[in-house]
Amino acid sequence: MSTTWTIIGATLPDGSTTDLHISNGVFVEEAPTGAERIDARGLRAQPGLVDLHTHLREPGGEEAETITTGTAAAARGGFTATFAMANTNPATDTPERAEQVRRLAAGASTEVVPIGSVTKGLAGEELSDIAGMNSRAGVTVFSDDGFSVPSAGLVRAAMEQLLPFDGVLAEHCQDQTLAGSSACCHEGPVSEELGHVGWPTIAESVVIARDVQIAQYLGARLHICHVSTAEGVEVLRWAKARGVRVTAEVMPHHLLLTVDELRTGDTTYRVNPPLRSPEDVEAVRQALAEGIIEIVATDHAPHRKQDKDKPFPEAKPGMVAIEHVLSVVIETMINQGRLSWSGLADRMSHRPAQIGRLAHQGRPVAVGEPANLVLVDPAARSLVDREQALSKGRNNPYHGRNLPDPVVATFWRGRQTFSR
Ligand code: DOR
Ligand code: ZN
Repeated sequence: MSTTWTIIGATLPDGSTTDLHISNGVFVEEAPTGAERIDARGLRAQPGLVDLHTHLREPGGEEAETITTGTAAAARGGFTATFAMANTNPATDTPERAEQVRRLAAGASTEVVPIGSVTKGLAGEELSDIAGMNSRAGVTVFSDDGFSVPSAGLVRAAMEQLLPFDGVLAEHCQDQTLAGSSACCHEGPVSEELGHVGWPTIAESVVIARDVQIAQYLGARLHICHVSTAEGVEVLRWAKARGVRVTAEVMPHHLLLTVDELRTGDTTYRVNPPLRSPEDVEAVRQALAEGIIEIVATDHAPHRKQDKDKPFPEAKPGMVAIEHVLSVVIETMINQGRLSWSGLADRMSHRPAQIGRLAHQGRPVAVGEPANLVLVDPAARSLVDREQALSKGRNNPYHGRNLPDPVVATFWRGRQTFSR
């Protein structure tokens, strides 16, 4: 496949139009000889997307996803980097296991960056070797995603380990005494109607409140995973006004879908944190527009069919996302006039790379920069068909919906990793 490209007439995030030339993995000034030509008139040229929160399932969950299939799906979604969550089997809780994830990703379609667990085996008891995972495997993001770090004392101890290298704790905010393992959906009229144990919005916001206080006390960096509630947004607003070093992410499903989907009975819609009320959806959209929530990540969580073919409360939580997140952000934010294309580059490329300390990703589309690029057709739409996915996951909440179908091609370090 060609390694030199000339892309004609693409529109940059700032609205200007230009020809782009790629050679040796970077954007160059002059058209390289023998370059493959792409007519990009009418297309947007956005920096490659960076996902700070992906479940690639390897090692241990290869029936649900592998690094090969998950990153192929990511490239189709417009991504050039994915941060691989630590809740694999075994969990990424030692320098050796973090190195193993990097090795397994040798032929992947995106850069893959391991996230380390905060506690050994995500058990919430003993801290993992946080310093070792940083010094020996370059890990900068640590998370027990799937669970909250259970106590304030453990959060403090973890943050003290992170301070010397300015690592970040990425917290899954779900207080287990308010929302334990039997809580399977948003607490409110719909959970009552369906007879499910609900998980209240405050189970999220009290953990955010606890952690921002500890981060402020220590001067440590904190990142809040998958914010889903208006209460959570309010605590973040409070913390940011006081200069706490906290960032936050929102997922596509929390930008588009509400708890009302649960009336279908479809276990695809079981996810943690759960789909919330329309008021919560409005609050997270507004927070993303304002920058109270800095980034969109995916929480791409493929599951085997047999893990979803269960009564609703017993089905595994999680839904796929990585092939559709850009569609959802265009639909809910850009087409509503709530986010610009340069805002999109900030929220989905520049800022996630910065939070994860990935200096060579999320860079502008400009001469001399690494050629990480997604070409986007802003007008294309189609019906989502879960059988067409590159991910192994069929737990697709967008199946059958008419949505933007934006990704035309993705380039990672000048290599074409997806083309339709
Ligand atoms: O719904 C979820 N699924 N939420 C999480 O935090 C973990 C994820 C998974 O690993 O399946
Ligand atoms: Zn997750």
